[in-house]
Amino acid sequence: MRIRRCSILLLEPREETTFDLEALLGGGNGLHSEQSWLALAPHLDAPLKVSIEERELLGRLSPTEWVDTKALAGDGSTVRQLLKTGLLIARGKRHAAHRERDERLRETHWHPLAATFHAFTRWSTLDTVQGMRDSGTETPEQMRAAFGPPPVAAPSRGEASSSLSLPRAEPTAFDELLGRRVTCRNFDAARPLPRALFAQLLQRVFSVQAEVHACEDTVFVKKTSPSGGGLHPVEAYLLVQNVDGVAPGLYHYHALDHALELMSMPTLPLREFAMQAVAHQHWFADAHVLVVLAPRFDRTFWKYRHHAKAYRVIALEAGHLSQTLYLSATEAGLGAFITGAINEVPIEQALGLDPVRDGALAICGFGWRGEAMETAELDPVGAVWEAAAER
Ligand SMILES: Cc1cc2nc3c(=O)[nH]c(=O)nc-3n(C[C@H](O)[C@H](O)[C@H](O)COP(=O)(O)O)c2cc1C
Repeated sequence: MRIRRCSILLLEPREETTFDLEALLGGGNGLHSEQSWLALAPHLDAPLKVSIEERELLGRLSPTEWVDTKALAGDGSTVRQLLKTGLLIARGKRHAAHRERDERLRETHWHPLAATFHAFTRWSTLDTVQGMRDSGTETPEQMRAAFGPPPVAAPSRGEASSSLSLPRAEPTAFDELLGRRVTCRNFDAARPLPRALFAQLLQRVFSVQAEVHACEDTVFVKKTSPSGGGLHPVEAYLLVQNVDGVAPGLYHYHALDHALELMSMPTLPLREFAMQAVAHQHWFADAHVLVVLAPRFDRTFWKYRHHAKAYRVIALEAGHLSQTLYLSATEAGLGAFITGAINEVPIEQALGLDPVRDGALAICGFGWRGEAMETAELDPVGAVWEAAAER
């Protein structure tokens, strides 16, 4: 049988510390620490513990050159174990599942560190709200008590005497719009969003404004946000909850056709799926529309192959789209949000995304603001809440 090492593999010496009652009763600090080697291979779902023998063999095998297992006769049981876990790749039907995932990783041209980071920072069932409750870090006061003071809000650099004061400009309508951009955590779930407003926002933020055909099959596009290489890899998948004339459900937004493509319903009821997706942040789960920002990594990595900055660029692009959405929503009298605290795994399962090629990076959303601020928003000058009360 011919084998080779998987394409991307990082080895981490990890210390795991657990509470040990016996250690405490014996007069120690009650903590038991264990060291082990973990293999982080992004074509697999989880890190794997490896033995010293496995680690050594992985270091001897090439990720590109196939070798015959006959040449590794002395390492038979180690080879078998590594084949079973998928860290070694073999030809033949029995090993097809791991080999195909490894092939997809090779074909997508990931930078190895980015691929590893992406694969092992995904969540499945996290409840961030419970997490903050458990750690007693829900309010700024609790955070201050638990963590001490944060680094200052605006640091000074250089000599104070060389500081050059700048003139402040008179505010324009654009400044007023920027001032009203406040992350919305209070949506009015009872008030449907008009279909025309919903469509206008999607057109402004996610639709293709113009196409550039470099060759027949090589098309770059223009949108209202910037994108590395003009590739625009970030797809918008919509979880529509409360829009007039649009049935609640999951949709893919077709950026050229400006059209919704209906996807299968998730296995959970839609509101529960929304809660799971935003890691139980109930203040976002009521939004009229949630938008999963899901980049097609293969489109950007087509140009920026094994590129150290490409993943970072894609994350920045998601941020740009979010800001355009915030401003478009604000201009339309709506609230908007973004969250990076998402459970990617169930989202990808529901949308049929393979995180090697594409995957959820963040969720943003928009809708009508509620009448009352039940969950805190950062509106210190009252641009949204005091202004609404005065109206
Ligand atoms: C990338 C990103 C991720 C964020 N994730 C969360 C989040 O998980 N939960 C949340 O309540 N707010 C989240 N926010 C919103 C910030 O908390 C918010 O921007 C900040 O409090 C400043 O308030 P403002 O947006 O109203 O100016 C996120 C913002 C950004 C830019």
